This record gives sequence, structure tokens and C-alpha cells, in this order.
Amino acid sequence: MKRRNPKSRQQPDYYAKRARQENFPARSVYKLQEIQKKYRLIKKGHAVLDLGCAPGAWLKYTADLTGARGRVVGIDLKPVTEKLPPHVRVLTEDVMGLAEDPDKCSALIGGWVDAVLSDMAPSTTGKKDVDAARSYNLGRAALLIAESLLTPGGVFVCKVFQGGDFEEFVGRVKSSFEACRIYKPQSTRKESKETYVIGIGRR
Ligand SMILES: C[S@@+](CC[C@H](N)C(=O)[O-])C[C@H]1O[C@@H](n2cnc3c(N)ncnc32)[C@H](O)[C@@H]1O
Repeated sequence: MKRRNPKSRQQPDYYAKRARQENFPARSVYKLQEIQKKYRLIKKGHAVLDLGCAPGAWLKYTADLTGARGRVVGIDLKPVTEKLPPHVRVLTEDVMGLAEDPDKCSALIGGWVDAVLSDMAPSTTGKKDVDAARSYNLGRAALLIAESLLTPGGVFVCKVFQGGDFEEFVGRVKSSFEACRIYKPQSTRKESKETYVIGIGRR
């Protein structure tokens, strides 16, 4: 029987090669680019919070979308070494902890934001239900932060691994936003269970 090479998933594909050529530190940039082309969520002058921002591809792209009149704050467990423009600030923090302390979170971020993005991914076990449950915990933390920091009309983009909690999560996004969309970018790896839940217009 032919055995699957566990490393094959990591082979550089079209998007990974393109990211390298275009000086982005990760192929994930094309997922946000597709979302932005479809929904036009981030505008010049916006304040954006990017949760799970390392190694910094979304930060770099978002900084360009907001321009220098905007501001971008990224948070990750890991430090970001990518060179970024001065209107981007990166904090090394655990988002799960910040979600439990909205006042600390607001003080760190510097007040209201127009968009909260979360591309956070848990460390995976290979067990689909366990990985999906971990992903929803991160998604719920991101949603709590979005609910406390977004200006009315603000937008939320959140990656989740599809699993048993999907409908419940979508229901929560629907109740906090005027509209909710579910979108799987073409640049997402075929075998991936991830999808993006998008809240448009914070109530
Ligand atoms: C897929 S990567 C994000 C890629 C990023 N969007 C980019 O374009 O460079 C997922 C990130 O989520 C971060 N992460 C996972 N759990 C987190 C947590 N509790 N707090 C902060 N960051 C977390 C990981 O450290 C990892 O860097």
C-alpha cells in the first residue's frame, strides 16, 4: 500500500512560492487578500486588531490597506521579526488571557478599532474533534474581544476549524453583527477544515 508522506502538506505550493516572491512571510496573506477583494472590509485610516498575527503576513498587508493614517495592532504568543511600518505595533500576549480582561485589553490596544481579525490556530493533535474544539475556544476569545472593542459598524473576520461547534459559533456572530458570511478562500489548502466566519456591521 502506498504510504502518505506526512511532510507533503508542507511542500511549497503555488501560494507559498508566490508569498516568497512578493516578500510576505506566509502564504496566509492570500486568504485575507481574497476576503478583502470580496467584502472590502478594511479601509484607509482604519484601526485594525490582528489576533494570532505571527509571522506577520496579514499585518504587512493590512498596514498597506489602512495606510499611515490608520493603525494596526497585532497580538501573538510568538514574537514577530518581520520588518513592519511605524503604524504597526505588535504585542506578545496570550489572547485567551486578554479575552478575560477587557479593560486590560482595551488599554493595551489603545481604544476602539474598526476591524478585528483572527487567524489564530491551535497547536493540532491530529484528532479532528479535539482540534476543532481548541479552534472554537480561540474563536470565542476573539469574538469576546471583538464585541468589547469594535466601533458600531465594525467588522470581524475569524478562522475556525469546522466541527461540532460551528453552528453555535455562527449563531453568536449573527447576533452581534448585522450580517454574517462564511467564506473559504481558494488559497486555503484543499485538505484543510478551516473556514472564515465574517461578521459585518457590529450592532
Ligand atoms: C496561522 S498563524 C497566523 C498567520 C498570520 N495570519 C500571518 O499572516 O502571518 C496562527 C497564529 O496563531 C497564534 N496563536 C495561537 N494561539 C494563540 C493565543 N492563545 N494567543 C495569541 N496567539 C495565538 C500562533 O502563535 C500562530 O502564530
